[in-house]
Amino acid sequence: MQTTAQTQLIGQHSLIDRVQSLIRRVAVTDATVLILGESGTGKELAARSVHSASRRADRPFIPVNCGAIPADLLESDMFGHEKGAFTGAVGARAGMFQLANGGTIFLDEIAEMSPVLQVKLLRVLQDREVRPVGSDRAFKVDVRVVAATNKDLGLQVERGLFREDLFYRLEVIPITLPPLRERRSDIPLLVKYFLDRHNQKRGDFHVSITEEAMVHLWEYDWPGNVRELENLLERLVILSEDGLVRVENLPPSIRSFISEKKIPRPVLTEDGLDLTNAVEEFENHLIEEALRRTKGNKQAAARLLGIKRTTLVAKLRRRRTGVPATGGARAELT
Ligand SMILES: Nc1ncnc2c1ncn2[C@@H]1O[C@H](COP(=O)(O)OP(=O)(O)OP(=O)(O)O)[C@@H](O)[C@H]1O
Ligand SMILES: [Mg+2]
Repeated sequence: MQTTAQTQLIGQHSLIDRVQSLIRRVAVTDATVLILGESGTGKELAARSVHSASRRADRPFIPVNCGAIPADLLESDMFGHEKGAFTGAVGARAGMFQLANGGTIFLDEIAEMSPVLQVKLLRVLQDREVRPVGSDRAFKVDVRVVAATNKDLGLQVERGLFREDLFYRLEVIPITLPPLRERRSDIPLLVKYFLDRHNQKRGDFHVSITEEAMVHLWEYDWPGNVRELENLLERLVILSEDGLVRVENLPPSIRSFISEKKIPRPVLTEDGLDLTNAVEEFENHLIEEALRRTKGNKQAAARLLGIKRTTLVAKLRRRRTGVPATGGARAELT
């Protein structure tokens, strides 16, 4: 069991401020909440935050992963079942809704819920009572529902994959968590927070990060959002030998993302531009990047660039013999 689960969303960006203030306002009500956002943006954390700021805080918070439980088991998992309701149901069993009574149920990956269960959930939300599988009796339950998905639920509705009436029932209060790349100014704060947390686990050993590495983390796009950042920092703390995280310690995926991002895009200004130079500079950057990725292997670099090895060699030779390779775009040929 998790002890004193942290439920605070770290961040000072106005987008997170807005989420935090929504959470505070909704927490004091019993309204159904729908949490949206890309993977790893903190949807479950936000759900726990709603629960722990509510009058239900000392009652259970029950997460149900609608995507991970097979459709035919999910109904009895959610609503319970009677003895003999189906083969293998040797005794009666309470469902998650009963377990969450007085507290909060967190229906994660709600978009994955089967159409049959969507109807049943709609009924529960309307009547605030559940009927266990195989029972003809319904029980009143006092449960706040928080649902989450990383899918565009509105689009699922349009495509006929999700019930419109259930969507509106769930979407009473929508809370959208921003992707990390839209609140980059929170990255140093999060880095410090996760470093501190993981440093604590290493006792006296303290790991910090160089300015340059921090800039890389700032500029990276974080497709896996806060979870990706958290996992990376945990790994860096565990693997650090001298207590300092440098650019070299960052994964190749981040380093190559940054070097690709640095490839300047030629801009056509009022004064025009030198097309030959601009094209050559662009080409040089790509050649450099291909050689770096392939550790100087010209055959592999040429394949990456979709050209023949001989063509690449000719281009490199031309650059070394002083034909203008502008703007400091020199390839590392080691
Ligand atoms: N703002 C934040 N402050 C601190 N920790 C955060 C924040 N956002 C996310 N985390 C941490 O990142 C990890 C991922 O968060 P969470 O599981 O809530 O994301 P999610 O949106 O539910 O992801 P998925 O869609 O993949 O299920 C967790 O360990 C969580 O504690
Ligand atoms: Mg989640």
